[in-house]
Amino acid sequence: MNDITVSSPATVSNVVCGFDCLGFALDQPFDKLNIRKADEKGISIVNNDAFGLPTDPQMNVAGVAVSEMLRVAGIDQGLEITSTKSIKPGSGIGSSAASSCGAVVGVNELLGLGFSKGELVEFAMHGEMLASGARHADNAAPCIYGGFVLVRSVDPLDIVELSCPALWATVIHPQIEIKTAEARAILPKQVPLSSAVRQWSNLGAFVAALSSGDLDLLNRSMEDVIVEPVRKSLIPHFDEVMKAGRSAGAIGGGISGSGPSMFLLAENENSARLIEQAIRSEYSATGIEFNTYVSGIKSGGVSIL
Ligand code: HSE
Repeated sequence: MNDITVSSPATVSNVVCGFDCLGFALDQPFDKLNIRKADEKGISIVNNDAFGLPTDPQMNVAGVAVSEMLRVAGIDQGLEITSTKSIKPGSGIGSSAASSCGAVVGVNELLGLGFSKGELVEFAMHGEMLASGARHADNAAPCIYGGFVLVRSVDPLDIVELSCPALWATVIHPQIEIKTAEARAILPKQVPLSSAVRQWSNLGAFVAALSSGDLDLLNRSMEDVIVEPVRKSLIPHFDEVMKAGRSAGAIGGGISGSGPSMFLLAENENSARLIEQAIRSEYSATGIEFNTYVSGIKSGGVSIL
């Protein structure tokens, strides 16, 4: 085999009450990456899209993730990574994770390296570090594992795959860019104990509700008293979108990752499409361009095409 093509999904991280530790994978949108063995040593990056991402492999999230993987494997195979992205960088739906995870899964398969999913998440986190300045795995883990995933610890990495009912998500992506590093810089360094208690109570209840399929409990637990109150000021018309989505039947919703995308969970596709109509109608009045996606929760992560 000389080359391989993978599809790498968008992901919603934080999921309201699980800042930096909870995420899920979407069926769409997704990126495609082709990885080809090259005669020349080193990694070269080709961008087959209009996003203008860096082609220097040490400045590119896929490049740094694969470099680390080859270093650990102790091989110096030359590789050309051609990236065709649909997930816009800075959208809040795991664009950097899709690039780094797609690349490491593809190289692992192409070169028969045999790294585990957990090890692949570790490599992908080098890309997340480059993109955001933080070692978080709440996009990379669901991107590689699929479904809902809880990251209990990043050091050492401890990933818990969560069982969940067949939920749907509606995502709205206002066409403004929020850099994750900047959205992290405005967060409080310390939180009151009462807020911490509220947050971990919600997260525990959210995980229990996913497992039991108790949608009322899921609704009650989708509350963020620490991050969302600060970050929502970066996202025009956040409260109005949440109100419109909930009135249209959403279980709950919030900021996707560090924004500007917002997501709402629904119990089925029909409900997710009604929510899409409601929030499109709400956002059309703002004059800000936007995209929407309606997607099932993707089981299984990056897939080989
Ligand atoms: N958990 C990270 C954050 C996700 O909210 O900063 C970034 O996509």
